[in-house]
This record gives sequence, C-alpha cells and structure tokens, in this order.
Amino acid sequence: MTNAEFEARIETTDEWIRERTGIEQRHVAADGETTSDLALVAAQRALEAAGVSASELDLIVVGTTTPDIIFPSTACLLQHRLGARDCPAFDVNAACTGFLYALSIAEKFVRTGAAHNALVVGAETLTRMLDWSDRGTCVLFGDGAGAVVLRADSQPGVVSTHIHADGQYQNLLYNPVGVSRGFKDEPNHGVRVMMSGNEVFRVAVRTLSRIVDETLAANRLGKEAIDWLVPHQANLRIISATAKHLDMPMDKVIVTVNKHGNTSSASVPLALDHGIRTGQIKPGQLLLLEAFGGGFTWGSALVRL
Ligand code: UT7
Repeated sequence: MTNAEFEARIETTDEWIRERTGIEQRHVAADGETTSDLALVAAQRALEAAGVSASELDLIVVGTTTPDIIFPSTACLLQHRLGARDCPAFDVNAACTGFLYALSIAEKFVRTGAAHNALVVGAETLTRMLDWSDRGTCVLFGDGAGAVVLRADSQPGVVSTHIHADGQYQNLLYNPVGVSRGFKDEPNHGVRVMMSGNEVFRVAVRTLSRIVDETLAANRLGKEAIDWLVPHQANLRIISATAKHLDMPMDKVIVTVNKHGNTSSASVPLALDHGIRTGQIKPGQLLLLEAFGGGFTWGSALVRL
C-alpha cells in the first residue's frame, strides 16, 4: 500500500509521510491471511537457508503482538504447520521489541544446552489493529514476518543480547482493549494502536543510544568494531539518530522502513534478511541489532555472522 493511497483516504500527503518517517509503502496482509501464514513462509525460508529440518527443532519462539487467535499461541500453530512436534513453542509479546526478546530467550536455551536448534520468528499483522482514520498512526505500520535459526556451535554467533522494559510508559503507546479488560462497542471492538508519537520519538532516540552503548561496553568494544547496524524500522529519523550516535555512515545501516513501514516484531528480522540476501551483510561481519517499542520495551543483540 503506497502513500498515495492514503492521500485519497485521509488528510495527509506522500511528502509529509516520507519527510517525517521515511516510509514510501507498506504491505497489508490479504483478507483472511494471518500472522501464522506470514510466519510459516519466513520460517520455511530460514530453515532452508540454515539447512535444518523442522523435525530437528527443539525450540520455537515467536515474537508477536498480533497472534492469529488468543490461544493456542502462534508458535504452536506454526509448529504444527511446519510438521514439527514435541519441542516447546511459545509467543513473546514485547511489542516492537518482540524479536529481540525472542532471540534473547532462544540464545539462553542454546547457550545452556537446553536447545540445539532454535527457530526464532518475528511476525505481525499490525494493520489489523489500526484505526484507519487516525493519520498519526495508520500511515506508520505494515505487516510482515522474518525468522532466524540458531544452532549450537563452539563459536557463538549471538555474542550477547540485552533486553529491558519500563512499564511506567504504558500510556504512550498501547492498544486499550483486551480479553480481561474487555472490548468496546466501537468499530473493530475498540482494537486500535494509540500513540503519543512525539513523546515516543524522543524516548526512543534517547533509549536506543543507551542500549547501543550498553552493548558495546558489555563486550568491551569501540563503535568502530560494528560492521552493520540493523535497527528497528519505525522512523528513518530515529534510525539516523542512532547511526549518528554510533558515528556510523548511513551506508553501514540496513534501511527497509521505506519499503515495509513499521512491522513491529517483524522489523529487525526483515531488515536482517534484506541485508543478507542483497549481499550487503557478509559472513564474518559484526552486526548490532536494536529495537524499541510499546511498554516501553527495548533490546539489542550483538551478532557475529
Ligand atoms: O515502533 C514503536 C515505536 N514507535 C515509534 O518509534 C514512532 C515514534 N514517533 C514517530 O515516528 C513520529 O513522532 C511520528 C512519525 C509518529 C510523528 O512525527 P512528528 O514529527 O513527531 O509529528 P507530530 O506528532 O509532532 O505532529 C506534527 C504535525 C501535527 O500537526 P499540528 O498539530 O502541528 O498541526 C500532526 O497532526 O503533523 C501532523 N500529522 C500529520 N500530518 C500529515 C501527524 N500525522 C500526519 C500525517 N500526515 N500522517
């Protein structure tokens, strides 16, 4: 869905969206297409790339805020569709940080020997919870999925992960309804993303600078050690601010926000996949992954490819 399509529907312009966010288009799942449909394709491609079969998996973690149904988890639905059985499978809801939370959990399983092959997915159908009349949010988000396979090795690929949350910011970015609080007699049962964009923006820039510093310090590395920044794709201005903090030129930053918008949990694995499949990211390089989202939650991972 292009920015031009929004111009016809709401009070906005392609110019405003591109200048304020960097977004040119986003993908919208087809009617009836669910998060596990997107997760399945991403998972199959990741398994194929890793040379691992579904039956070899001993952990599946899916980062998502938009599960197919309330339960069973999207991870259980995915496990069955992949033809895997027995291994633990569960979802993690950390809003836009979902993939980094999922990666961090899987890393601990692999590091402790509890899992040998772990599938980590970030998948969302965020457009299902948009208020299409709210120009401050509806132009920002898109649907998608990305996945990675972690395999135990004597040379760790995931060097370190760092995850955090601060629930005091819950009212700056949230969806006001749910099973326990109840739904509303409103369009879409009151399901809608609500965001104080400007305040989220300021905290995101500050917090992402802090998490990249934390990641470098934990590994006793200088900024120059990082080959690629693979950031959460919410807003090009936030991405540029983090790159500037790292003294990284933009040609060392994977940018997909123009093509995908903000796909929440799917954003970092989609960007990673794009960087690898386009040949920009090369084997042996050191990557810094980071994300920030509702909660607030935030996290990072240092990855040696
Ligand atoms: O992934 C989870 C974390 N989420 C984020 O990181 C998102 C963080 N926030 C942002 O990316 C930015 O704050 C936005 C892109 C959401 C908004 O950009 P902004 O520069 O912070 O704009 P603003 O909210 O301060 O609004 C500026 C003006 C307002 O008009 P007035 O009040 O100055 O007349 C808005 O009503 O822009 C207006 N505006 C729009 N105009 C045209 C807001 N949305 C639109 C729009 N088209 N779609």
